[in-house]
Amino acid sequence: MKVRFVDLNKMHEPIKEELHNAAIRVIDSANYIGGTEVELFEKEMARWLGTENVCSCGCATDGLFAVLKAMGIGPGDEVITTVHTAIATAEAITLTGAQVVFCDLAEDSFNLDLDQVEKKITTRTRAFIPVHLYGHPVEMDRALSIAKKYGLFLVEDCAQAQGAKYKGKKVGTMGDAGVFSFFPSKNLGGFGDGGAVTARDASLFRKIKMFVNHGREGKFDHEFEGMNSRLDAIQAALLRVCLPNLDTWNEGRRRVAAEYDEGLKDISQVRTSKVIPDTEPVYHLYVIITPHRDALIKHLQDNGIESGIHYPRSLNLQPAYQHLNQGRGSYPRAEYACDHMLSLPMSHVVTREEIKFVCESISEFYSKNDR
Ligand SMILES: Cc1ncc(COP(=O)(O)O)c(C=O)c1O
Repeated sequence: MKVRFVDLNKMHEPIKEELHNAAIRVIDSANYIGGTEVELFEKEMARWLGTENVCSCGCATDGLFAVLKAMGIGPGDEVITTVHTAIATAEAITLTGAQVVFCDLAEDSFNLDLDQVEKKITTRTRAFIPVHLYGHPVEMDRALSIAKKYGLFLVEDCAQAQGAKYKGKKVGTMGDAGVFSFFPSKNLGGFGDGGAVTARDASLFRKIKMFVNHGREGKFDHEFEGMNSRLDAIQAALLRVCLPNLDTWNEGRRRVAAEYDEGLKDISQVRTSKVIPDTEPVYHLYVIITPHRDALIKHLQDNGIESGIHYPRSLNLQPAYQHLNQGRGSYPRAEYACDHMLSLPMSHVVTREEIKFVCESISEFYSKNDR
């Protein structure tokens, strides 16, 4: 048996004809930038999120950057985020000229430690960016109360968490702004790069929307300098086909996670992700912590099972952040996680048989090797 980590072809198969029709519709329209498809996608996504303001953009990295710029964040400012995330979260901060300030993980989750956020706040701190990593929501009541107490902007990085809920509310609708990625393997994946931003305050939202389109509203009325970061009409049309399926797909991911939980529960060497109270995760990834991780990857590979590591190095250990002088030992929880974590095949099309096979292979690895 071959078990793919993510099988985009299989995921798209049931909607293939609709996708083809949508692409042809845009090609025939000769309207490739902005226009009806983009406007409709933004409206449909806003309705699905239960919010008013959604602005699409070229990718989530740009979306985070645009949000921080629209908040007036720049040189001399500090922005706090987790050390265990895609580099995009930190990059967006640095690109504004602000200083990125990292926090370690919470003790029992892959999300950032909110106690540490509070300790790292200085007079220069302007914002913090909790990341709903792997589709698990951050404890938003606490995050919001920290932001309120210290007068900080709160930007939710929802790149991996489209549809995840905290106390019944979808992530991206609770902070000052929320940022989504449509990278192809994301829960709502596009067919190339893409992203979207939400913002609660109308004037902040207007600035973000203008920022990603050269600082303008009218065609030649540039109120300030921005950038070119727009969602292509063809991406919008294709995402419009995917969006109505997202809740069902996320339900499928929860089914896969529950089956993994069940299949792995008796393997004492494997630690699975906990679901924190009041949250409904969407399992962008299903991540386990396990000893002898690299040998296990090899064993799974030999059995035809693909797996991944998200992420092999916490950001403080990346060459890009050497100037911070935060070597090994600076963020022990994240560093431990990076050395022991493994992402198992995850999407709504992973079958019960495949999950059984993956769990049996892991069990076999630990029993055979008497580890
Ligand atoms: C947590 C997180 N934030 C931001 C991004 C950036 O997304 P994009 O690739 O759309 O720029 C990613 C993508 O991998 C991500 O996982």
